[in-house]
Amino acid sequence: MDEQAWDRVAEHFDEAILDVPGTDRRGLIAAVLDRLAGTERTVADIGCGVGRALHLLTPRFGRVYATDLSRECLAIAEKEHAGSGQVQYIHADLTRTHGLPEQVDVAVCINTLLHASLEKREAMWQNLCDAVKPGGHLLVVVPSLESALYASHRLVRLNRRSGHSPRDAQRKARRAMSDLDLGIVVVDGVPTKHHLKEELHDVLRARSMQVLETRKLEYPWQFVLQDPPSDMEPPDPWNWMVVAEKKT
Ligand SMILES: C[S@@+](CC[C@H](N)C(=O)[O-])C[C@H]1O[C@@H](n2cnc3c(N)ncnc32)[C@H](O)[C@@H]1O
Repeated sequence: MDEQAWDRVAEHFDEAILDVPGTDRRGLIAAVLDRLAGTERTVADIGCGVGRALHLLTPRFGRVYATDLSRECLAIAEKEHAGSGQVQYIHADLTRTHGLPEQVDVAVCINTLLHASLEKREAMWQNLCDAVKPGGHLLVVVPSLESALYASHRLVRLNRRSGHSPRDAQRKARRAMSDLDLGIVVVDGVPTKHHLKEELHDVLRARSMQVLETRKLEYPWQFVLQDPPSDMEPPDPWNWMVVAEKKT
């Protein structure tokens, strides 16, 4: 999606986009930030959207940067956090630059590395890692490819439970998956990159980032399946959260 498309999403962001910090029931993101925090430290939320992670950053860090491709999203983020002179908002396209005036101690990037184009994604990964100081840390959240495949399995099971034959249960669950080998899953009509855990580690290692921790960030079924029954047993679908350290 380009800048205009994200600008259009801005006004109905909360309905259209999964709130990762808001659905992090176990507080895994906050726990990582607690370990990395410091009033003398700098943090950047890269692809901050309407600023849903900023309330986690401002109490823990001295200087906060919030960057995004969409001016409309940035305007909403700024309005929501009016009065906090601590946050500097920066319009930047991560495929071209991280846009920060300095490298930061901690870069947070939540569900922004979604581009289906490998060329654009490679540039985004590079600029993201370049934003981190040597010895600094990156907290990145991306859609999990394992979770997307698992959700398909659960949808087939639900279709079976509704009385469909095995064949129909699978046919009804089938989605556009021609690019699936490359981890591109069509979400609400948009080809969206999903990562395998090992793939994510590989991408980071190739950029001198040492992976310290990988966790599942679970979120409710409503974001994947239409009208899921209330008795869906665990596990829930998930994004991958990885914490990595930049080698000195
Ligand atoms: C799914 S939203 C996630 C927003 C936010 N991180 C959150 O968790 O609520 C993806 C965000 O990435 C931004 N984005 C997409 N492509 C980008 C790019 N090339 N450079 C910077 N931001 C980008 C979009 O404008 C959007 O705000």
